[in-house]
Amino acid sequence: MDADKKRGRYQRIREQLTEVLNVTEDPIAKMATMVGLLHHKMDYFFWTGFYRLVERQLLLGPYQGLLACQNLPKDQGVCWAAVNRKETMVVPNVHEFKGHIACDARVKSEIVVPCKNKKGEIYAVLDVDSDKLNSFDEIDAEELEKIVALL
Ligand code: SME
Repeated sequence: MDADKKRGRYQRIREQLTEVLNVTEDPIAKMATMVGLLHHKMDYFFWTGFYRLVERQLLLGPYQGLLACQNLPKDQGVCWAAVNRKETMVVPNVHEFKGHIACDARVKSEIVVPCKNKKGEIYAVLDVDSDKLNSFDEIDAEELEKIVALL
């Protein structure tokens, strides 16, 4: 997908989410809505879901895709790296990321975006996997950061 098309698609998703995310303050309902829309509108999203930081564990939240690990081993993998570095992780080839946790052997690239509260504390991450190499770039990072800020 070219850059303009990608930005346009993310912008429309963000507009739609802005309209529909005012029904409740419940974060799980909002996460479920976000994941449902993203997963079905972005054709290269193979697995799309949240992990919530609960008592220093990363526990599976709302997602779309096949079964995934429910509790990610502490300080391993891409999701924990995003939490510990407090920044979005774009991984072009998961096989080159030391400690990557493979919930599905078909996954080849990944992006993980931290969700921060008003104090800047991380309370969850959005994890998106692709079954192709190099699926995510700076545009995905920027746009998904804007989207999770709607939570
Ligand atoms: N790959 C992630 C684990 C979650 S699954 O991709 C759904 C990681 O390395 O943290």
